[in-house]
Amino acid sequence: MRGKKIILGVCGSISAYKAALITRTLVKNGAEVRVIMTEDAKAFITPLSLSTLSKNPVLSSFQASETGEWNNHVALGLWADLLLIAPASANTIAKLSNGLCDNLLTAVYLSARCPVFVAPAMDHDMWLHPATQRNIHQLKEDKVHIIPPESGELASGLIGEGRLAEPEQIERILNVHFAKQHPLVGKKIMITAGPTYEPIDPVRFIGNHSSGKMGIALADYAALLGAEVQLILGPSRLRPKNENVKVEHVTSAHGMLRASLHFAQEADWCIMAAAVSDYTPQQYSETKIKKKEKDFTVEMKKTTDILAELGKSKRDEQMLIGFALETNDEIEHAKKKLVKKNLDFIVLNSLQDEGAGFGHDTNKITIIDREGEQTPYKLKTKWEVAGDILNFAIKRESKTI
Ligand code: CTP
Repeated sequence: MRGKKIILGVCGSISAYKAALITRTLVKNGAEVRVIMTEDAKAFITPLSLSTLSKNPVLSSFQASETGEWNNHVALGLWADLLLIAPASANTIAKLSNGLCDNLLTAVYLSARCPVFVAPAMDHDMWLHPATQRNIHQLKEDKVHIIPPESGELASGLIGEGRLAEPEQIERILNVHFAKQHPLVGKKIMITAGPTYEPIDPVRFIGNHSSGKMGIALADYAALLGAEVQLILGPSRLRPKNENVKVEHVTSAHGMLRASLHFAQEADWCIMAAAVSDYTPQQYSETKIKKKEKDFTVEMKKTTDILAELGKSKRDEQMLIGFALETNDEIEHAKKKLVKKNLDFIVLNSLQDEGAGFGHDTNKITIIDREGEQTPYKLKTKWEVAGDILNFAIKRESKTI
């Protein structure tokens, strides 16, 4: 929940006192909380209690009482990462299910684009009434998450279902919801990206056209899913947008090798998206090489294949993901690389596909796994492709655990 923006809607119900505990729990979990109360809710708990606990003024009507300013329901709806209505009365549930918006809370509900959680609280017979059950059914159809009421003694003295879920239960449900949005929390991912430049002399190098876009998209996406990301970036003009991505800048294949061997020791997953030079000049001239009368030859020696090197020292629980950029016999070449480099799966780009490969904002990939299964994807933005690759890895890992 840390850093999440949550609107807590509170309706008129005897269980509104629990809104204080819920507010405190959300704030303790690191969420930023804004409370919206219906008029009737104020008869059960004071706005002062909830504004003190949420550290924000409590909103109730379209016009703020102190300043007379407009409480913009559309802005509030867009601000929230999650809308929780707890307790939700039978009356508010009926309004939500029918799209009525005669108060700030119901108007915010209609404006919100975020997930909505509704925790009903009412008397047993009101809860079981076909009208309420019909409204609950409609809310579920509208993709609202219902936090079911619990059974027990009710304010009416009756015993049965209708009691607001306990704050601990609501906390658990929201934490599970946010955890699903961040499936890579606790995972350390190393990603290589960009080209490498192999220096000939202080002013010249041999390089390639890799922009680094694919690897950087992977780094940003993985960080968004909660991973601890270490990006090893060759000489690219681009930078990751997510400030949680740690970047180690390297220039040559040798520099990338050293950084990769270092960071791979700690990494759970290694994703090698860099276009590493396979050769580097045999000799580096400390001074600028002068033009000669005759032709000039640069002798090249092989660089170490970083991915193959990591494949040799791969730990059992470590996932190793490679890329293959091919122009012909793509599947066959990719499969050979997968086996030779001891990978879990390989992401194949074919330069024969329009819009795929270096420099483009789009990419078209086929994933081939260790078991030989091929998963082709459509042409997509590199951002979407990054999501596909990470989701493939998440699914693969959940199958093997
Ligand atoms: N790779 C690497 N170190 C190298 C060369 C490649 O880590 N020195 C990695 C790339 O990051 C990529 C994969 O190996 O994940 C395949 O790269 P690619 O250039 O397609 O294949 P090569 O093995 O270099 O074979 P070839 O160039 O002959 O196709």
